[in-house]
Amino acid sequence: MTDQKTHDRVLILDYGSQYTQLIARRIREERVFCEIHPPTRSLEWIRDWNPRAIILSGGPSSVYDPDVPSVDAELLRSGIPILGICYGMQLIAHLEGGRVHNGTREYGRAEMRVAETGDLFEGFDPAESTRVWCSHGDHVDEPPPGYRVLASTRTLPMAAFRAVDREVYGVQFHPEVAHTVRGEEIISNFLFRVAGCEPTWTPGAFIEESVARVREVAGDAEVICGLSGGVDSSVAATLVHRAIGDRLTCIFVDNGLLRKGERESVERTFKRHMGIRLVVVDAREEFLAALEGITEPEAKRKAIGNTFIRVFERSAEEQGRDARFLVQGTLYPDVIESVSTGGPSVTIKTHHNVGGLPEDMPFELIEPLRELFKDEVRNVGRELGLPEDFVGRHPFPGPGLGIRVLGEVHEERLAVLREADAIYLEEIREAGLYDEIWQAFAVLLPVRSVGVMGDGRTYENVIALRAVTSRDGMTADWYPFPHDVLGRISTRIINEVSGVNRVTYDVSSKPPATIEWE
Ligand code: XMP
Repeated sequence: MTDQKTHDRVLILDYGSQYTQLIARRIREERVFCEIHPPTRSLEWIRDWNPRAIILSGGPSSVYDPDVPSVDAELLRSGIPILGICYGMQLIAHLEGGRVHNGTREYGRAEMRVAETGDLFEGFDPAESTRVWCSHGDHVDEPPPGYRVLASTRTLPMAAFRAVDREVYGVQFHPEVAHTVRGEEIISNFLFRVAGCEPTWTPGAFIEESVARVREVAGDAEVICGLSGGVDSSVAATLVHRAIGDRLTCIFVDNGLLRKGERESVERTFKRHMGIRLVVVDAREEFLAALEGITEPEAKRKAIGNTFIRVFERSAEEQGRDARFLVQGTLYPDVIESVSTGGPSVTIKTHHNVGGLPEDMPFELIEPLRELFKDEVRNVGRELGLPEDFVGRHPFPGPGLGIRVLGEVHEERLAVLREADAIYLEEIREAGLYDEIWQAFAVLLPVRSVGVMGDGRTYENVIALRAVTSRDGMTADWYPFPHDVLGRISTRIINEVSGVNRVTYDVSSKPPATIEWE
């Protein structure tokens, strides 16, 4: 856990806002460490955690509803600087004796005027308005005794307030979203001016501390890591390698569901470039055999996940190195125990990573990225010297091309998809669009279509192209390619990949579609 003596830490209490993770990322971008926790944490727990500042997030509740999440009122008098955002502000008002109005829903942009500059609004000009973004039903309409109004909009007399004698602030709008034009400044003012945080949370500091921690935990034991070639496991492995060198063995399973050239690129990068002990296991036949006759997406995932576990455990054993630890690239969004992510949710797709490993496995886990968001992992990877084509890679699902060959998976169909996908990504890179896109890939449809080539009729495969923009994969929009780029990709795929006579582009957003087709 990040050391509270080395770094200032900000605690975010999550009341269920869809933007809570965004608050955390804004704070991390300011190089201050923060964590998200549920509002049920006790006052004692919070004191012990020793936050330099606390943020109370927004949330869907109304303070007057029964059994709503709250906070110990004593916290507001603990001397720890506090910023309440939206519901967080209403909660402060409610606990301190102000009045919250159950009003009309306000959603969207508003022009705010700051009445009192300095501290939270240092650098703002009372003569100018600034655009903020709101999304709320309730708002504070009477400040608690001992609180002063700092800013207002046309519809919100109290867009921001503060306690006169303490560093307790509330804002009704959302400074964490990009539509609040000067939101970053407000967050930075809170962190540095109000709370006196130091910006010490850098990728370099993270690496140094993690390396020391891994050394301490691993002692002189052997460690193994299932390398997938994705950003997370690559960065985790590289970090652990820096800590314990050749006592780390990485196992890369070629499951036959990889993209063109992937196995070679992993070998080149990790073995040769990074000098990591890497075992490549060729399990292509085993995976294809496990997938035989299966067409249902979840059944495919299960077959791939189970085979992976079997192959991985067997290979680890074959290493004969008696490993005690297993490295996993678990990220922070997977471990947050919060109101917004903690509720019961329906399984849309079971996402198997190495996370599918059985509970009774004979390893202890090392998860060096547990505290990081994806963009931070990328920065750590860069700092560790991983090549950009690994660090900036689009996400790739654990079941790989197995869920992109729709229907039953066969070697010949995988080969068709692999070629089409390679051309697609090559052209995207060529057009300089790769980094603008969250994820792009080709899908082989389980239908054939009629075409004409030369003078003859063809009856062949259809490739669907998918490219989306997204922040976190939870929601996504289709990417508006320039038509000439799409045209070039289509022509090349149809001309160069034998067995394909038609290319279509997927223009569905998520929701209601998902990013992958299966
Ligand atoms: P969906 O298709 O659910 O995908 O919109 C969201 C993100 O998750 C990836 N994905 C997976 N990753 N195992 C994984 O490790 C899976 O089974 C899986 N299914 C989808 C997908 O590529 C996208 O980035």
